[in-house]
Amino acid sequence: MTLNIQPTDLTLGATVTGVNLAALDEAAWRSIESAFYTYGVLVFPQQHLSAEAQLAFASRFGEIEVLVEGMKTVPLSNKAEDGKILEASSDRMKLLKGNEGWHTDSSYMPLAAKASVLSAHVVPSVGGQTEWADARAAYDALDQPMKNRLAKLVATHSYFYSQAKLGHEVKAGSGYGFFEGEPPRRPLVKVHPNTGRPALYIGRHAGQIEGLSMAEAETLLDELMAFICQPPRLLTHTWTPGDVVLWDNRCLLHRARPYDYREARVMMHTRIKGSPATETALNF
Ligand code: OGA
Ligand code: MN
Repeated sequence: MTLNIQPTDLTLGATVTGVNLAALDEAAWRSIESAFYTYGVLVFPQQHLSAEAQLAFASRFGEIEVLVEGMKTVPLSNKAEDGKILEASSDRMKLLKGNEGWHTDSSYMPLAAKASVLSAHVVPSVGGQTEWADARAAYDALDQPMKNRLAKLVATHSYFYSQAKLGHEVKAGSGYGFFEGEPPRRPLVKVHPNTGRPALYIGRHAGQIEGLSMAEAETLLDELMAFICQPPRLLTHTWTPGDVVLWDNRCLLHRARPYDYREARVMMHTRIKGSPATETALNF
């Protein structure tokens, strides 16, 4: 097998073939780590990883964030434990629908996520893709007055805020480890701890911006989000069962696409914790 890293013609993303993620040698690992920093999102078609192998691969990037007590790799599935498709009104379906808004993982937690690994197990016949948007290339493309305006802005990120905006009330203690304390403060411009590249750091969990009214903050965040999430900064992956994708939460946004919710969609997610020194820092 020869490792092949094929970049897209977009500002982000590469497809990696000729590798078995369940049996990575040191040279392949180093190439993948370096491609992760360069491309931000790596698609590994047809890996068919077990939950253990997915966890082992994710663990190479750092400590795992536990989203559900006792589970390091969690299902993102619209099927209940009894195999029935979830009701639209169920808490879990509201969480899955929330993933259809552009976001970066765990930005509402005291320690935002470094990276995530997602694999497809059952996919709907139409839709249900995942998309990523390049917040590094978006930052680069901003004009200087906007860069100056954003340089010292700080937003608070809250899951209660983002779900309330969708009309979904989140009950305290509802699971998935949602943070119920003071919403964390995050810079609008995040400097990547490994590459030094600045990126816009926003997403649906960002609400209040310090020094701005709620309306001003919403207008600015909507404008930036629309700017980030457009070609050539937008990658769409149509899943085939067995595919694995790895992405960097510090410089990309992502979202799930809708599908016919009467069909099953079963994904497995492993989230890598950020480093306290960099994921809580304001960079200025
Ligand atoms: C995630 C996520 C989107 C999807 O795994 O963090 O947002 O397409 N997933 O399921
Ligand atoms: Mn996510």
